[in-house]
This record gives sequence, C-alpha cells and structure tokens, in this order.
Amino acid sequence: MSHRLLTLSALRNRLAQHPAGKTALSLLKVVATAALPLLLLWLAGCSSEPAPRDTHAPVSDNGEISSFFYSLLLYLDAAILAIVVAVWAYALVKFKKQAGDDTLPEQSHGNMKLEVIWTAIPTLIVVAITVPMLVGVFQMSKRHDPNQPVVEVDVTGKQWWWEFDYKSGTASGLHTANELHLPAGTAVTLHMTSADVIHAWWVPRLGGKRDANPGRNYPMSFTAKTPGIYDGQCAELCGSSHALMGTKLIVHPLAGEIEVDYKGQKIKLESYESWVREQQAPAKPPVAELEKGLRLFKERTCPSCHLIQGLEGTDIAARSATSGPNLTHVGSRMGIAANTLVNNPENIAKWISKPSAVKPGSKMPDGLVTPEDAKAIAAFLSSLK
Ligand code: CUA
Repeated sequence: MSHRLLTLSALRNRLAQHPAGKTALSLLKVVATAALPLLLLWLAGCSSEPAPRDTHAPVSDNGEISSFFYSLLLYLDAAILAIVVAVWAYALVKFKKQAGDDTLPEQSHGNMKLEVIWTAIPTLIVVAITVPMLVGVFQMSKRHDPNQPVVEVDVTGKQWWWEFDYKSGTASGLHTANELHLPAGTAVTLHMTSADVIHAWWVPRLGGKRDANPGRNYPMSFTAKTPGIYDGQCAELCGSSHALMGTKLIVHPLAGEIEVDYKGQKIKLESYESWVREQQAPAKPPVAELEKGLRLFKERTCPSCHLIQGLEGTDIAARSATSGPNLTHVGSRMGIAANTLVNNPENIAKWISKPSAVKPGSKMPDGLVTPEDAKAIAAFLSSLK
C-alpha cells in the first residue's frame, strides 16, 4: 500500500515539473471538485420520479402530514445552516487577526444581552417545531367518525407474511394474504396484531409504521387518496426471512376501471366493489387437465394449512394463528411468498418444491412435493384467479 502511494506521489511530482503536466493536474482538480456534489446527488438516489417506497410522494392523509413535517424540518434546518454559515464566514473575514496586533478581542463573558438572545432563539425554534408537530401527531392518531363508512381490516403479521381479514361492508369475511386492497377516498382502520413475534406494517407512501405485537391490537386509521399499487415491507427485525416479508397496498378506484403505472408497467385496476365480488366468489372447479394438480394438492396435505373455498376437500384448514395463506384466488395476486417472487406457474413450482430456498426458515416444509408434482400443483393454483 505505502509503495503504491509513493509511486502516485512520485508521479504527481514528475507531472508538476512540466508546464503541460501542471495544467493537466489543475484540470483534474477542477473536475474532481465539480464531480463531488454530483456524486453525492447520485449516491443519495435523487430522481424526479417517485420511487416505489418514496415517503415524499404521499398517497394518504397521514402520508401528507408526515411528509409536510419532513419538509418543514428540512427547510427550517437549511435556513438555520445558511444563517450560521453566513455569520461565521463574515466573522472569519471581518475579525481576522492582523499582523502585529496582539490585543485580545472584546470579551463577551457575562453579557446579559447575548445570553438572552442565544437562549431565546433556540427556544423559539424548538417551540415552532414542537407545537405544529404535536398537532400532527394527534391528527395522525385520530379515530374515524363512527357514523361514516369505515373499512375495517384485521392485519396479522406471521413469520413471514401478512394476513388480512376484512371485517366490514361487502368485504366482510374475506381473508387475503400479502396484498391489502382498499377503496380510494374511504376511511380505513387497520387493527394490527401478530401471531408470533413483533412485526411492523410499513407502506412508505401511506406514511407511518405501526408495530404488530403478539397479544396486542393497535389501530391505524387513514384515508388512501390516490388509486395505485404501493410497495411495503415489514419494518421490524422478525427472524431469518424478515427482509422477505413484503406487502403490497392496492388502492382501487371507487367506481370504474383505471390504468396505473407500477414500476414502468401499465396495470388495470378495477373498482373496489368489483374486486370484492371476485374475491367473495368460491373457487371454480379446475378444467380436466388441471385436475391432477388439485388431486396432488389434497394428497400432499396442503389443505391442512391452506384454504381454498368452494372445492371439496380443500376447505378444511381451520383458520388459526398457524394456518398459511388462503389460496382461494391465489392466481389473482401479483406476487407469491410475501411478494418475494412474481406470481407465475414457474415460480409457484419453485416455491413449493423447496420453500427454504426461497424463504429461509419458512414454516412450509421442504420435500412435501417432488418437482414434477410441484409443476402440476402450480398449474392448478395459477388457474385460481
Ligand atoms: Cu416481519 Cu420483519
């Protein structure tokens, strides 16, 4: 290392001895200085497009509140920094020590006026931040008016996926996994709990995180405003596959169908009520070439953890803390294994033939199905739209 450094400095010295080398060196310095801020911007991931987990592109009332406070603090801090740096730079030039002047500058110790000023200003800043922020905290934790329609969903964190049990309106009785579907512009209250360890529900563009604790029930109330598909992630270290505990929030329009952009893909979103109707329908019996998949699904004991509503012998799973995702309409989901994989027959086969390879520590055991059986089961499951 030291040998290499010596060589570099020797090279610089040699370059500096020639006029052309000198020019090249100064040019290099200018380029390096200009490139530094650009490099920092690049490292900060700055982009004009909202990223899938961008907290500054809020899509709910709560998200707008927390994004507002982030911006308030950012601009206030930037203004304070600018003032302090300006005063400091002014003092540096104005009160520079003159050659031959050995007198001490004017001493400010015990100056009452100064003491009051530099106590009062920070106090005012803290008050200016605290008062509106307390108002924001109360706004974000408010409960919805019980006289208005509220979509209520029980959210259960499990190692390592999310279960949603719909408790109100037409969706009442619906159980889905990993994708939370909500209507735009409607009050929502999620009731968070966990079946095992502590998880945390977090969809950045929705704003705010909420812990899901075993034996507790914490509410989270908000109104999602903009239809779209938003990514979320468990935000509490919950075991070996914590990083693979993804979730999606899908906000449907109240009526009609719209097209939304999701990671550069155009995706059609039907109305919330139409989604509910499809999900409430029992599974359709498979066509002849998919019957083998259904038979293997039953033979390999899958129904002891997974429910498929409407097909004989597949609706026996007791809904409990240990049961796996409801598969009645698994084919309609965007992802599988808590959004670790895109939902397609190849990925389903890969997932069920060796779950531990996709999600280490998965409760679904390896070796239940052979790769050949997995293909047949995957084809059947994919048909459950
Ligand atoms: Cu669940 Cu991290």
